[in-house]
Amino acid sequence: MLWENDGFSVVKAFEGDEFKNLQNSIRQIIIGALKDNNISVDSSIFQLKDYHKYVTTNELHNEVVTITRNLETSDFNFDIDLLAKRFGDILGYKLTSWVEELQKSHIQIRISRPNSLDINPPHRDGYLSYWEDIVNVWLPIEGCNKKSSLPVVPESHLLPENEILRTESKGAKINGNVYYVPCILETKDGPIQMIRPNPKEGEALLFTPFLIHGAAINQNEDDTRISLELRFPRVIC
Ligand SMILES: [Fe+2]
Repeated sequence: MLWENDGFSVVKAFEGDEFKNLQNSIRQIIIGALKDNNISVDSSIFQLKDYHKYVTTNELHNEVVTITRNLETSDFNFDIDLLAKRFGDILGYKLTSWVEELQKSHIQIRISRPNSLDINPPHRDGYLSYWEDIVNVWLPIEGCNKKSSLPVVPESHLLPENEILRTESKGAKINGNVYYVPCILETKDGPIQMIRPNPKEGEALLFTPFLIHGAAINQNEDDTRISLELRFPRVIC
């Protein structure tokens, strides 16, 4: 790819009504997760950006994300494999949503409340064996802009491990949440310098699982940020 050295690119992801349909499906899943936690919500007026007005404690938020971080393609009223096909066409090889090592697909809705620590520390997904040979996809769904979208470190996928200072697996803890993936503290050049590619609604951020990314703090004043993370393995023929 032309962006081989950058390690990421912003591409067109949706046509016609597809984005709105996916956004609506995510809205339904989140409304379901709120109801499962006995949070009263009027589904006719609920807006995703107002999530933090309904979920007002870290404890409740942690309960909601135990549902939204562990979804499969079948949970969505949207054909996720359509996106695997589309991004595979861009990359020139076949992708699938099926993760052989996990024996399932894995899809995560990320919910980040304004001025919260609802983040992952900087990391490489590729540290986890089942994400070594995948394409990462980050889709803005609501409240994503230059103050909230996913930061990446351009070209960081080319850094060898002996130039990276990181924790062990389960070595990072934020707000009581232990992170399974090792957290990257700095590189041989010092503190890591992140940028926000900031894809617009309807676009996707594609990146290699060895690109350093994370720390997506939502600096918006009063909008929850919702994004979708997809990981598509390459189909080995
Ligand atoms: Fe990640």
